[in-house]
Order: sequence, then C-alpha cells, then structure tokens
Amino acid sequence: MNTFFIEIYGCQMNTYDSKRLIDSLLFSGFERVFTSSEAEILIFYTCNIREKASQKLFSQIGLLKSKRTKVICVGGCVAQAEKENIFKISKNVNIIFGPQVFHKLPGYIKSVLNNDTKRIIDTSLTQTEKFDCLPKRKNVSFSEFVTIQEGCDNFCTYCVVPYTRGREYSRPAKDIIDETKWLLKNGAKEITLIGQNVNSYHGDAPYININQPRGTWRLERLIQEISSLDGLKRLRYTTSHPKDFTKELMEVHSSNNILAPFAHIPVQSGNDRILRIMNRGHTANKYLDKLKRFKDICPSIQFSSDFIVGFPTETEEEFEDTLKLAEEVKYTLSYSFKYSPRSNTPAAVMKGQISEKEKGIRLKMLQDVLIKDQIYYNNSLIGKTQSVLFEKRGKKENQYIGKNVYLQSVVVESKDNLIGKFKEVKITSAAENSVCGEIIGE
Ligand code: SAH
Ligand code: SF4
Ligand code: F3S
Repeated sequence: MNTFFIEIYGCQMNTYDSKRLIDSLLFSGFERVFTSSEAEILIFYTCNIREKASQKLFSQIGLLKSKRTKVICVGGCVAQAEKENIFKISKNVNIIFGPQVFHKLPGYIKSVLNNDTKRIIDTSLTQTEKFDCLPKRKNVSFSEFVTIQEGCDNFCTYCVVPYTRGREYSRPAKDIIDETKWLLKNGAKEITLIGQNVNSYHGDAPYININQPRGTWRLERLIQEISSLDGLKRLRYTTSHPKDFTKELMEVHSSNNILAPFAHIPVQSGNDRILRIMNRGHTANKYLDKLKRFKDICPSIQFSSDFIVGFPTETEEEFEDTLKLAEEVKYTLSYSFKYSPRSNTPAAVMKGQISEKEKGIRLKMLQDVLIKDQIYYNNSLIGKTQSVLFEKRGKKENQYIGKNVYLQSVVVESKDNLIGKFKEVKITSAAENSVCGEIIGE
C-alpha cells in the first residue's frame, strides 16, 4: 500500500474537500500516515486568500520532503491560481490539481507512481462532476460540513475566490438532502451547510421534472427540509453575503429551533466609499438596517463578521467608520485581516496602497474594539444555561471544550468522556475567547 500525508490550509470549503479527497484515496487503496517522513506521497491542499497562506505552501514543501517521498501534489486554491508557476517555483512538485478536480487525484498519483508521466496539471473548473464522482465517506464525525454551493459571482475587488473556485454553482437539493440523511444515519448530530455564498443558493427542487423551472429552491427552503430530518440536533450555515439576506431567511431563524440563532455576515468596512471600491454592493447603513431588521424578526440572533483594514486609499477617517460600525453592532465573534494584495485582482493594482506598518496599527485598533465586545458578550452569559456540543479535550485533565449555538468555546470539567455529546451547561465565568461552566444535572 502506498502511504500519503496531507497538509490542509484554508476555509471550511477546503476542510470539506480534503475530507472527501482523503476518502477517495482510502477507497483507492492508499494508506494515510500522520508523519510526513513515513509518506511516499505528500499532498498540500491549499488556500490563496492572503499572501501568508500561499507563502506557507512553498516553505512547507521544502520542510516536509524526505528520502521516502516519491510524489508531491499541490491542490486547492493556490494550485488553481498559480497553475504551472508552481512547477517553476518548486521543481519537486509532480501534480497540480484545482479544487474542482480533486476526485481525479488517486488516478493521477497512480500514473506518476507507474512512471507513465512525471508531471500532471489539471485546473479545469467544471463544478458538477466532482460531486457525482465522490465515494461515500469512510469516517463520519458528530459534526459535519455539507457543501451546498460553490464559487462566487460577486467579484469583490480584493478577492481571489471567483478565480480559484469559479462561478456560482448550487448543488441540487436532492443531492444535499441525501448526503445529509446518510451522515445523520451514520452518527452526525450537527450539520453546517457551507459555500462561499450560501444565501445566494438557487438549487433545483428535489424530484424536478422537465416542465419545472430550475434552481427554485432558496436557502430558507433547504433549511426547512434539512432541519426536519431525523437525528439532526443543530443546523448552521456559512458564509453569507449581506446583500443576499432575505426577509424569508430571517424568518426561518425565528421559527426553527434546530437552526442556530447565529449569522456570519461579513461587512469588511464601515465606510461607504471603501465598500464601493471593494464592490460589496451595499452601504454601511444598508448593512446596519439589515441587522436591525434581523434582530426585530429574531431577537435571539447574534452576529459575527469579517473585516479588512488598510484597503488601498483608505484614510484614517474612513477607517474610523469601521471602528464605529464595530462598536455599534457588538459582534460576538470577528475575524479581521490586513488587506493583502492578490495577483490578478483589481485592488492589487490600485494606486494608494497602504503601508504594512499602517495596516498593522489599524488592525490592532480594530481588534481592541472587537475583543472588548467579545468580552462584554461573554460576561453577559454568566448565569445562563446553554446547550453545548463537546468537540475535544482541554489541556487539563478531565477538561472538555465544546461550542454553544453562537460558536463560542465553552470549557467544563467532567469525569465522563463528553466528546460528541450535547450537554446543558450553566456558564460560571468568562474570558476573551471562551467561557467556563458546569454541566447541569450531574
Ligand atoms: N464569501 C465570503 C468570504 C470569503 S473569504 C464573503 O464574501 O463574505 C473570507 C474573508 O477573507 C473575507 O470575508 C475577507 O474578510 C478576507 N479576505 C478576502 N480576500 C482578502 C484579501 N485580499 N486581503 C485580506 N483579507 C481578505
Ligand atoms: Fe470573495 Fe466577495 Fe465572493 Fe466573498 S463575496 S468570496 S469576498 S468575491
Ligand atoms: Fe482559501 Fe480557497 Fe477557501 S482561497 S479561503 S481555501 S475558497
């Protein structure tokens, strides 16, 4: 049996892809090892969203290659963006494969091992084929991702995703429902529906016939169907675009107990001029109005967001608008980044690039505000009881860490193994990134 070692970077889309890729390799007779020096095949499944992510790839190839290595494969978004340049940067790479063709990797590896060829590159962007070709999963976890949508048509001027993942494609509802049913039957309790832009989902209704229009199911309809499946305890979705949040989707949140009352709605900036040159398709006020409407419809909803600081030409005053917006919303969780110029995106060639030093100063200022809000929110949970799904052991003996509906980490002590179990937890103390509590009824 040929052994493989896989390194995975990137977002939830890559987590899903690489799980399916690992299953394809196992079904094709390869054996997974967890130490790179034991592997004949090294696979890097990569992310290209910011410069740091892609730089990491090339340093890792050099570090992990060993005497045993026979084949090196680079897949995912860097592969899609850089294509044959990767062969030039790293002479040792044999296979370059994009995110839409990972189901073909077992065959490509066999060709290299059989000496049929030394180098293969496949970066085609046909989105339907891979889902049809993937085998059933080998290992099912209590919490699973299901891809419902891929690609993006929004073309934000800083972002590589429309180029690395291609145009928007929604999987037919029947395929998603069947995959979810199978996961639930095999032990999954929590499902996260994933995509680059899940709230623009337009999938075919199940049992479509030739006279029915295509793509009529929206995210809210899919959520209703999935949340009624046997065995499902919690449903999430990510990530969404502010402009695609409909009233119907907000209403599903208020009427559906399985769906977590939590929405990741990235704003990126609080300034209208910056939002316009980012091509985000909304103003700061429109965004705030949507959040307000959402709270009116579903009072228990909480929000998280992504931010980019130091976008080309952003002035200090414009950056302050972002601080003001963050202060106003009081997000429970946030992810903030320094703007990173990506090749072939319009923003990378804009005049008025901001220095790394200035971006660093703005990032620190924003993170101070975001952390303050997070601490404030975590403190407000003290004394409340929350349903927690436990995911892993903590650093201390008998310590377990899980997630509440708002994706916050909750730490408890227990003599029983809690991994994969839902428990009601009373929150007793709060810190920056987590809260601690006691299990109720033990
Ligand atoms: N589709 C999602 C986000 C996908 S990328 C959305 O539109 O909301 C995840 C996050 O990475 C983005 O929300 C953005 O904050 C960040 N990001 C994307 N490109 C970036 C770049 N060039 N520099 C810095 N951050 C970037
Ligand atoms: Fe990138 Fe914008 Fe699409 Fe999100 S919506 S994936 S940031 S282009
Ligand atoms: Fe990265 Fe590709 Fe996801 S660029 S963020 S792995 S879609």
